[in-house]
Amino acid sequence: MPAEENQVAKRAAELRKQIAEHNRRYYEEAAPSISDREYDRLYKELVDLETKHPGLASADSPTQQVGGKPLQQFAKVTHRAPMLSLDNTYSEEEVADFYKRISKLLPNEKIPVVIEPKVDGVAVSLLYENGKLKSAATRGDGVVGDDITQNILTIKSVPERLRGDAPKLIEVRGEVYMDKRGFEKLNAERKKAELPLFQNPRNAAAGSLKQLDPKIVATRPLGLVCHGTGGTEGVDVDLHSKIFPLLKKLGLPVTEKFWLAKSVDEILEKIHELDRVRKNFAYETDGAVVKVDSFAQRERLGFTAKSPRWAIAYKYESERVETHLIDIVVQVGRTGTLTPVAHLEPVFVSGSTVARATLHNEEEIKRKDIRIGDIVVIEKAGEVIPAVVEVKTSARTGKEKKFRMPNKCPVCGGKIVQDEGQVALRCVNAQCPAQLKRRIEHFASRGAMDIEGLGEMMVEQLVEKQLVQDVSDIYELTKEKMSILQRMGEKSIANLLGAIEGSKTRPLWRLIFALGILHVGVSSARSLADHFGSLDELMNASVDELQRIPDVGEVVAQSIHDYFQEPRNRKVIAHLEKLGVRPTVEPKKKTRDSAIAGSTFVITGTLSQPRDEIAETIIARGGKVSGSVSKKTNYVLAGEDAGSKLEKAKQLGVRVIDESEFRKLLAR
Ligand code: IVH
Repeated sequence: MPAEENQVAKRAAELRKQIAEHNRRYYEEAAPSISDREYDRLYKELVDLETKHPGLASADSPTQQVGGKPLQQFAKVTHRAPMLSLDNTYSEEEVADFYKRISKLLPNEKIPVVIEPKVDGVAVSLLYENGKLKSAATRGDGVVGDDITQNILTIKSVPERLRGDAPKLIEVRGEVYMDKRGFEKLNAERKKAELPLFQNPRNAAAGSLKQLDPKIVATRPLGLVCHGTGGTEGVDVDLHSKIFPLLKKLGLPVTEKFWLAKSVDEILEKIHELDRVRKNFAYETDGAVVKVDSFAQRERLGFTAKSPRWAIAYKYESERVETHLIDIVVQVGRTGTLTPVAHLEPVFVSGSTVARATLHNEEEIKRKDIRIGDIVVIEKAGEVIPAVVEVKTSARTGKEKKFRMPNKCPVCGGKIVQDEGQVALRCVNAQCPAQLKRRIEHFASRGAMDIEGLGEMMVEQLVEKQLVQDVSDIYELTKEKMSILQRMGEKSIANLLGAIEGSKTRPLWRLIFALGILHVGVSSARSLADHFGSLDELMNASVDELQRIPDVGEVVAQSIHDYFQEPRNRKVIAHLEKLGVRPTVEPKKKTRDSAIAGSTFVITGTLSQPRDEIAETIIARGGKVSGSVSKKTNYVLAGEDAGSKLEKAKQLGVRVIDESEFRKLLAR
């Protein structure tokens, strides 16, 4: 392969990997690490490469797929009609090209188009049958999504029953959003509770819908905007512009404004008009969607692999400003990850003053050729953390300095590694003071063990003076030991010691969360505490057993297992116990009339439903599911071709049931 082609192939592979990772973060974790604009740039670069070099095309490129994988924990819904995405552009010229293209495909025809807001939310599909909501689902991979019916029903503007003359079947497509004000309020509350902040309303909405507990969703300020239909029976409409009044009549919320246009000029004019009014909408919008109005014309235009030929999304640029990059400082996080952070001359952008921006990693800095001393363009698209998007190379004086990641940890001087498949570097010294500080701050934070008075400054001193070398040392602090600390009067020392004492009997989930196990957030910590009831049980659980718990997938299960296999961690936990940390267990909400509650099941063999779904049913009713048969097992649910577990059950005299008996237990 000639050198240049080789380069191109390498870049395409790199882009695919990055985009796949960003997709995973966006769709599956609702925690993107780059702005939408940045993402679109990477995406466009890949599309351009693939177009210019058709030899590069590959079916598994993200350009050929829609969205993320459905999450593991929800039941699945197959959409009646696939949920596609739209071609995106930031250029008016490409909007013009779009209209010219369709005009060529439908020569000598008038082609009215609708211009409507592109709502920056989470795509959902609501299926109503005979007027009743049958299911609500996320997009998932476009074909199968997650069943989020219970979560959707907590949204006030979503009717469970349609009004008036409802069609036999209608799949309604729309976006769930968090309104801008509600988002600010929610983040302010989370900040107070020292919980991680949502980056923008879209992520907050996505994160909310991913909650397995509808009660939590009900507290979130969510809304819905419907913008079309999927599969239908008994809907007799020929124009998209008639869909809005129809949906509205049925009691569904639709966009507050849309426009019709019949030429390129008119389209652009309406796009500008929408841009002027959209800031008054309750929800965030990131663009305008231009759609052919006539369904008959749409049918003749058809689709490409991924998107319809009859629509295009024009995205508005997010706000950008120039500023001076004063320095690049490497931060060490709780798990040792090194992140270069840009220290900026403070500037005002999108409603707040910005002095820091993430630079992600060295690769990113090199690719954008960001140097210390540069004038840079930063962008903030409603996000909490702004990004450096561009360097004003023409403004360089020659004094700018290239940045290199350190080859040692900037804090402890320890060894740095790059984990396989990861871009980020990590300091592997578990004793690294920076990591230790972050770990202790996290342990004591309000969302975890809630130790008042043990904030950033205090932790800084305790670690510097070597009074605390791991989290368990907190419980060995005394008045005498703390007398060497600066700015600490007797009163504040007494208060802190009181708060530390008080934290010894916090609920178990708080302790599990406080340990800072990689990937274990509050919600999985709660599930783990509910399921295991004690740290001892959790510590000895197999990966298999862990995976059966709601909120715990493969990666999380492995991470928990690894954490407890580490002798150092076990030592810290033993030390905590020795020092009197006795987490309390909140009594389990037993489902009274269930025969399942309190029983332990082992599931084996082939059953009519995936095993993890059955396990979820059991757990939801207060039962436990274990990976191995022991005397403590109450039931072995055996499907076809059950092997050694069935044998073991017989040996131990554990009751073996088949699926129909299991269904009877469920029904009892
Ligand atoms: S129409 C076949 N209209 O943006 C096209 N989508 O990247 C169906 N979106 O998948 C989509 N506002 O999730 C449409 N007014 C709107 C929209 C909208 C937001 C989302 C939707 C879509 C994505 C396209």
